[in-house]
Amino acid sequence: GLRKKEVNVLCLGLDNSGKTTIINQLKPSNHSNHLGPLSGEWKHASQTQTQEIVPTIGFNIERFKSSSLSFTVFDMSGQSRYRNLWEHYYKESHAIIFVIDSGDKLRMVVAKEELDTLLNHEDIRNRKMPVLFFANKMDLRDAMSSVRVSQLLSLENIKEKPWHICASDAIKGEGLQEGLDWLHEQIS
Ligand code: GTP
Ligand code: MG
Repeated sequence: GLRKKEVNVLCLGLDNSGKTTIINQLKPSNHSNHLGPLSGEWKHASQTQTQEIVPTIGFNIERFKSSSLSFTVFDMSGQSRYRNLWEHYYKESHAIIFVIDSGDKLRMVVAKEELDTLLNHEDIRNRKMPVLFFANKMDLRDAMSSVRVSQLLSLENIKEKPWHICASDAIKGEGLQEGLDWLHEQIS
């Protein structure tokens, strides 16, 4: 049959923001108390959900297929000592998922610094690649709203790229589908 379009997605954001938890939600679930795989388009090749999520060392690569696209997701470590790895994958990536811990008010300025550095990078700056933001951990009692997060990150200043922000709870899997549907629409 027809070959699916190959898409590389880079998943970025500070350590502990929930990147791996979000990507883990795309995998089929074993647990009955869990929401299970995201509905519709998103299907993972073979692996099942890992129960224990540990801080990522370096990065992980995951592959997903939809009806029309074949995704390779680079789940990067957000720890400061690994953040210098991010830029090596900018050139070959077609879309970015940027995850923010909505409860981490103290480090919002660090997240903004990393985002600004990313958006000003020569391999990113003039490209029209879509950027999907997850204002994650919306379940936390003191979580900021996605509107507040987008204000603090000055997302309205992003003119040259389509972007979208969704509030999410990666543990329950809430808010992920909306964002991924948006991304799918941008790419296909
Ligand atoms: P690094 O790999 O170190 O860059 O971190 P990461 O962004 O991949 O974060 P990870 O997915 O490992 O999640 C960090 C912690 O946050 C874990 O204990 C998760 O269970 C927790 N977590 C992730 N998403 C949510 C969420 O939506 N709500 C809450 N309350 N906790 C979350
Ligand atoms: Mg991780």
